[in-house]
Amino acid sequence: MIIIITGTPGTGKSTVSKLVAEKMNAKLISINSLLEEYNLNLGTDELRGYKIVDTESMIPIVDKIKEDSNELIIFEGHLAQDYPNADMIIVLRCDPLVLEKRLKPRNWPDRKVRENISSEILGICTSESYETYGEIVQELDTTDTNALETADILSEIIKGEKEFPLGNIDYLEKYFTYL
Ligand SMILES: Nc1ncnc2c1ncn2[C@@H]1O[C@H](COP(=O)(O)OP(=O)(O)OP(=O)(O)O)[C@@H](O)[C@H]1O
Ligand SMILES: [Mg+2]
Repeated sequence: MIIIITGTPGTGKSTVSKLVAEKMNAKLISINSLLEEYNLNLGTDELRGYKIVDTESMIPIVDKIKEDSNELIIFEGHLAQDYPNADMIIVLRCDPLVLEKRLKPRNWPDRKVRENISSEILGICTSESYETYGEIVQELDTTDTNALETADILSEIIKGEKEFPLGNIDYLEKYFTYL
């Protein structure tokens, strides 16, 4: 079984996925680790300062990891939704103003921070996930929970004990003037 954890940068994917993997004895893979190991870097988007990831070549690689493993696999990254063969997909969300605070320590250019905040306001990761996975997408708001609490809730979702269906988180109404 493979579970995607996606979300805007800064929503806590890496921090929380590591905790969930430890807690559930799962194998953890991240887009960043695949990027290095399999040379999936197509260059840099100079304007935005992002690495461009060859997500098409990523698909057979993740398929193979899935096939070769009978462990639970947690696959995290803000482009992980481009992988179409997961069993479950959870989008981590965060109130845009709190997200801005989480991104501060990264010392990114203002433009890059704003772009990510706008992306969270518009729910880009959610809508991209929905395009591939439809109604099975779940969204978890991490604004008021710390990483450990978030990891606990995620484990419950993965075990099927809790559900956070799509469509209950909307930052657009509150923050549309920021865009
Ligand atoms: N509830 C929370 N859940 C997860 N992380 C949190 C939470 N509250 C604060 N943080 C902090 O937010 C920061 C961002 O976390 P992290 O680097 O895991 O994000 P990310 O989604 O993996 O980002 P990227 O897409 O850039 O890799 C970390 O410093 C983390 O400690
Ligand atoms: Mg990360």
